[in-house]
Amino acid sequence: MAPEGAQQVDGNDDGEVGFDNARVITADEYFQRVRHGAVRGCKWDGDEMLGLLNELGKDPIRHAERRFVALVNEDHSDLAGASPGIFIGIQLIHPGELVPNHRHNSVAIYHYLQGKGWTTVEGVKYPYKKGDTIVCPAWSYHEHQADPDHDEDTIMYVAQDMPEMAAKRTLFFEEPMGLENVRHMVQGTSKSWSATRDPDAE
Ligand SMILES: [Fe+2]
Repeated sequence: MAPEGAQQVDGNDDGEVGFDNARVITADEYFQRVRHGAVRGCKWDGDEMLGLLNELGKDPIRHAERRFVALVNEDHSDLAGASPGIFIGIQLIHPGELVPNHRHNSVAIYHYLQGKGWTTVEGVKYPYKKGDTIVCPAWSYHEHQADPDHDEDTIMYVAQDMPEMAAKRTLFFEEPMGLENVRHMVQGTSKSWSATRDPDAE
């Protein structure tokens, strides 16, 4: 049975079933298409990103593990990132909050702009403070705990090689920890970032 949306194509009049998305193009047309033109540099304003982040921080519904803003260059269209290969997010964790153990096959690099706490990577608990940087290799379990006795929020700058992986459909998350929670991050198969989160919840 053909998948929904499939239709008969009659290019060769052979009755084969398929979608109307197959093209044979010349080299000239190919090189016009493959050049990724019109990508402009851009600057994201620090006051704007911290302002939005602080608004998210006031919302008690938001969970600490996904309280971040992302820096996107719209010139890359659906490759949502600062570049096709690089995601940058600014994440806020209130004192005492825990970002539960999880993993993904994108590498994550954390640079701490402020705050104190601990980032645990594969069971190794690293204390962090302003100015530190920690890397979490691909498919390594990690969690973040903001120090409950430190009165300053943790704000960290997060870089991941995620957008290109998403575009290539090779991005996987396990969140929260548990093999039953491994998800292929493809639109249509994974509605939410967390396997235990109601995808329709705000
Ligand atoms: Fe993570």
